[in-house]
Amino acid sequence: MITKVKVKSPANIAFIKYWGQKSKELVLPYHDSFSMNLSDCYSIVELEITDDPKQNEMYVKKYKAKKHEKSSKEAIEKVAKFFSMVKDYLGVKEGKGFIIQSENSFPQKAGIASSASFYSALTLAIVEVFDKNISEAELSALARLSGSGSACRSIPTGFTWWHKGVGENTTELLKSSYAESIADVDYWDLVDVVLILNPDEKKTGSQEGHTGAAGSTFFADRLLGLDNRVQEIREAFDQKDFKRFGKLIEEDTLSMHMVMMTQQPPLYFWSGKTLEIMKKTVELREWGVEAYYTIDAGENVHVICQKKDEEKIITYFKKQPEVQEMIVNYPAAGAHVLEIA
Ligand code: PMV
Repeated sequence: MITKVKVKSPANIAFIKYWGQKSKELVLPYHDSFSMNLSDCYSIVELEITDDPKQNEMYVKKYKAKKHEKSSKEAIEKVAKFFSMVKDYLGVKEGKGFIIQSENSFPQKAGIASSASFYSALTLAIVEVFDKNISEAELSALARLSGSGSACRSIPTGFTWWHKGVGENTTELLKSSYAESIADVDYWDLVDVVLILNPDEKKTGSQEGHTGAAGSTFFADRLLGLDNRVQEIREAFDQKDFKRFGKLIEEDTLSMHMVMMTQQPPLYFWSGKTLEIMKKTVELREWGVEAYYTIDAGENVHVICQKKDEEKIITYFKKQPEVQEMIVNYPAAGAHVLEIA
């Protein structure tokens, strides 16, 4: 019998962002989204199951920390709820407890998708520890139900596409909204240079933020433009047209942040430093270096480029006073098992 599983799963950077939920309960997006798994921003989650259903423990080793620390009661309760939901879905009847040890290779809650890497890893770990065999699409849909919808995009390999889902009833909607790989890691040599301007944890998490999105006066506008952008980015990706691709990812970033800043209460994730780096990225292009920014729910900036420009971009941003450190990422595999005991 399996009692312990160790899983590694990447964070992902969205090129078409998911913001706002059509159904909070089913964690359903309004539209498709698209991302790349990150090689150097990941979580490693070790899940041990115990026979005492009341024994729920979790320890997290944060980025650069020397040791694991016990998680708060609220964090453990949230994970316990998800653990029991996945267990029910898998048809596991016996009561079980868990001991989780998790670690991150990057700052958490700083707009670099730490909940996506953690929950995608945890979902796979739960399925493995109970020795169940489900499809990748089902696994991805389950990860979405953690609340961190974008976790579903960290399950398949490389570049992944999250379908918004269609259906007449809850079961259909639940299963049809999942992510699948549209290209493997070696399809395109894109690089995501994550510029850490501030590693601190943000005040408002994405899950709280999604709730207000539809109230923004820009939300309807964003949705109107999205079908077109989604189609265009797919074409640019298929043709490896980086200029067109880059223009679209910046457009989508700005469109999402307009919604964030105009929802109630407003979410201003950018700082002055963020804006400086955005301007500097545009300036780089004027000098002939092909670099484009994208920003998730945080202050830190992801600069996307092709491998041929990576060194120039790293050298340039190393000298900029706003940048505290950098994490350089290449396309990566999705969630996978490292050890089973
Ligand atoms: O999956 P969540 O609830 O952590 O939300 C992710 C939201 C963004 O990172 C801002 C966009 C995205 O698609 O990753």
